[in-house]
Amino acid sequence: MSPLAPTAVPTRGHVLRGTDLGGDTIRELLAEAAALKASLRDDPTAASGLLAGRAIVMLFEKPSLRTRVSFEVGTARLGGHAVYLDHRDERLGVRESIADYGRNLERWCDAIVARVFAHATLENLAAHCEAPVINALSEQFHPCQALADFLTLAEHGREASKCRLAYVGDGNNVCHSLMETGALLGASVLAVTPESCRPDREIEAACRDLAAASGGSIEWSHSLEAIAGADAVYTDAWISMGQADGPAKRAALAPYRIDRRAMEIAGPQALFMHCLPAHRGEEVLDEVIDSPASVVFDQAENRMHAQNALLVRLVGRA
Ligand code: CP
Ligand code: NVA
Repeated sequence: MSPLAPTAVPTRGHVLRGTDLGGDTIRELLAEAAALKASLRDDPTAASGLLAGRAIVMLFEKPSLRTRVSFEVGTARLGGHAVYLDHRDERLGVRESIADYGRNLERWCDAIVARVFAHATLENLAAHCEAPVINALSEQFHPCQALADFLTLAEHGREASKCRLAYVGDGNNVCHSLMETGALLGASVLAVTPESCRPDREIEAACRDLAAASGGSIEWSHSLEAIAGADAVYTDAWISMGQADGPAKRAALAPYRIDRRAMEIAGPQALFMHCLPAHRGEEVLDEVIDSPASVVFDQAENRMHAQNALLVRLVGRA
């Protein structure tokens, strides 16, 4: 079957984290994303029937450039309609209950894309809503980012099951989703963080179990030397949206800045990755993010293609 053809039995569930999809579905989505990307490159109207008649709500409690634009443009390219709801000034659950909010949206919309402060908000919405809820970033996970990142790695010849990905910096939502998606795909994911910024221990342990089943591995180290030989070095903001800022955290993370020396430790084969927005001069220096090793704008572009595949799978015309 063509990867562009809608599947006979689509996954029509909520996607709050990688485990909601599973390794096989993620592999299929990455193939479908690559096919959609190729078809849109040849003809921007080629896929305009896949979401025809479908409406997507996008609600954001936090700012966004990439997620908002890639979902909105992606939906339009597939023939659907996206409605943006700005919740930056009024979090969900204030004007009416999250349950009632979801029960309204499901009457008009086929899917809900939501960026929230608390992952529990997504779980609450998903529990009261028939329309699939897609996590567009919570404080715990950023699954759409991880899909785009593994698509990008594959495009650059780093197929997940043979890939050694080193995440360096704060053990945050992006780190969690890279560990989880990587573990599902059989990748080796190494998180290098100060002890005070370790990934969530429960998520780390769950990812180790997933990796044991898939042939991958999940490791943690406080030593930057551990990134030697990595296929890609990935970093993200030291202070995520909604997190407390402070000199102690910045001081703990300062030795983990990705500069030319860090990339030399990794080796000449290593790509540089970042979900963006980058804080140049903090977690990464211009000499790295603007170097030939950097694939950050490929990652940004691939947000749309990965999400397109997900939307088609969830709510596409069967
Ligand atoms: N990477 C990412 O999610 O970017 P935005 O915050 O701009 O959406
Ligand atoms: N970890 C960052 C990712 C931004 C896309 C944050 O949550 O702010």
